[in-house]
Amino acid sequence: MIRKTGMILIAALILMNCGGGDSEATKEAAQPKLSPDGLTQEQLKNGVGPIGAFELGPQDDAMVAKGAEIFELKCVACHKVNERLVGPPLSGVTTKRTPAFIMNMILNPDEMVKKHPEVKAMLAEFYVPMTFQNVTEDDARAILEYLRTL
Ligand code: HEC
Repeated sequence: MIRKTGMILIAALILMNCGGGDSEATKEAAQPKLSPDGLTQEQLKNGVGPIGAFELGPQDDAMVAKGAEIFELKCVACHKVNERLVGPPLSGVTTKRTPAFIMNMILNPDEMVKKHPEVKAMLAEFYVPMTFQNVTEDDARAILEYLRTL
């Protein structure tokens, strides 16, 4: 009787192990493919940082005005609209990058410069890493609204 229970236990253990192995394999298959830089497709598209993918609504003029003010204060030392300065010109950036990418660049430039292949490529071109300008998430959203108008 004891022996029989033992056998059943062992059989159960073996079965459980196999089951575990299977679900491990499924997990791996479900995991998103990482880029050579170790980023997910999502991060390649939307950047590395606190902001996830989102869609822009119709233009909000009050936000544009607020964003323009903050831009004058915190960004013009390095960015012009149509010409290269310390950093790239920002005209048309909202057609080139996703909204989340732009906000993550503003809110989390250190990590973006270190980890994102396209920002690394920009660093190689501009030599200077963009630095965090003490911008809140609301302010970054307002700047994004302003950048849409350029
Ligand atoms: C110290 C200079 C500096 C300041 C200040 C700065 N940036 Fe930058 N920015 C750069 C550089 C240089 C790059 C190119 C990437 C790199 O080398 O880090 C860049 C890249 C960017 C990009 C990505 C452009 C693209 O084509 O993908 C955006 C968007 C951006 N900056 C927005 C801003 C905004 C908005 C501010 C103000 C809150 C700002 N930057 C302040 C230097 C700066």
